[in-house]
Amino acid sequence: MSLDIAAIRSQFPILSREVYGRPLVYLDNAASSQAPQRVVDAIAKAYTTAKANVHRGNHLLSHQATDAMEAGRVAAARLINAPSRDEIIFTRGTTEALNLVAATMGQGLKAGDEVVVSAMEHHSNIVPWHLLSQRNGIVIKVIPMLPDGSLDLDAYARLLSDRTRMVSVCHASNVLGTINPVKQMAAMAHKVGALFCVDGAQSTPHACIDVQDIDCDFFAFSSHKVYGPTGIGVLYGRRAILEQLPPYQGGGEMIGHVHWGDITWADIPYKFEAGTPDYIGAAAFAAAVDFVEELGMANIAAHEQQLAEYARGQMAAIPGMRFFGNAPERCGVISFLIGNAHHYDTGLLLDKMGIAVRTGHHCAQPLMDALAIEGTVRASFAVYNTEAEVDALVAAIRRIAPLLDR
Ligand code: ALA
Repeated sequence: MSLDIAAIRSQFPILSREVYGRPLVYLDNAASSQAPQRVVDAIAKAYTTAKANVHRGNHLLSHQATDAMEAGRVAAARLINAPSRDEIIFTRGTTEALNLVAATMGQGLKAGDEVVVSAMEHHSNIVPWHLLSQRNGIVIKVIPMLPDGSLDLDAYARLLSDRTRMVSVCHASNVLGTINPVKQMAAMAHKVGALFCVDGAQSTPHACIDVQDIDCDFFAFSSHKVYGPTGIGVLYGRRAILEQLPPYQGGGEMIGHVHWGDITWADIPYKFEAGTPDYIGAAAFAAAVDFVEELGMANIAAHEQQLAEYARGQMAAIPGMRFFGNAPERCGVISFLIGNAHHYDTGLLLDKMGIAVRTGHHCAQPLMDALAIEGTVRASFAVYNTEAEVDALVAAIRRIAPLLDR
């Protein structure tokens, strides 16, 4: 089905605003996508009709807030085809979800145990493991990349051993766009008895996710990249594993009972949700899932893919254009530099022309080290982007290129 992009854009009032007197061309979707009106309405509805703490009150507002939040959990489970809502833990975002995994399963690891990550990880899938290595002496192994920006799966196979306890990799790289073969990688990890965790921050907005098909043990993503509100994310965990893990944080709602010297835990997922959750964010995320389901994720992905291919083709004709990430399987993320021009200068000039892109190391400094660069300019697409916007980007790059020190 081809999508009516004009009708889709009309659901996002922010897309008609101007910046510096020019129409906004928003191409920073990998950092955060925009939210459709129905998400904004869901937030407003919650604040104006049912703002009350969840799972605690015995009054109507609390029941309604609880129902709305739990509807968000069911929607999240549907989005990634989780077997049950109990395996959906709400977090602040992908980063907290990955920290939760490292902090809880990490308690069962000892010095010399190995955790495998990849060379293209975001800091959120590096630093939690680094903290763990400082605490208990685990060893971090890194899957290297091939020159095209795909993972070296032969090297991955060689890294796996009976010391491997966990493999944690991104599904899609936020810099290169590379889509990693996580199903195959999960099977390889399981063969040596390791758990497999997927950072799905960059894949969930752009691909049909099926955690049961991937057969992963954990899968993390953020709402704000999938047309939802900020401040809420999801960790999917396999039921049998979640039931075994210790809690993440202590506080209200995560307990069975609390007496001096005798504390028990709540059932999953609440065991991992101490304190008042972002229940309005969770409720509004249901509206974002509704938006995605209405369009169909396969249609969204096809549109973005087409746009990214068009953009690459147009940009490739610009003298001095350097792309980072040439793997055969990629999502709608294009990282580039114009000759030796500094990414920051390029981004600054594009911004003044109304075009929002991200510049810098993209929270992936080890990847920048591997590429021997400081940073890139990154254009990333969402379902509401158009070919006209790509044309505006290309025209702007052509205009600013002569001004840059190359
Ligand atoms: N992880 C987000 C990005 O890649 C913030 O921009």
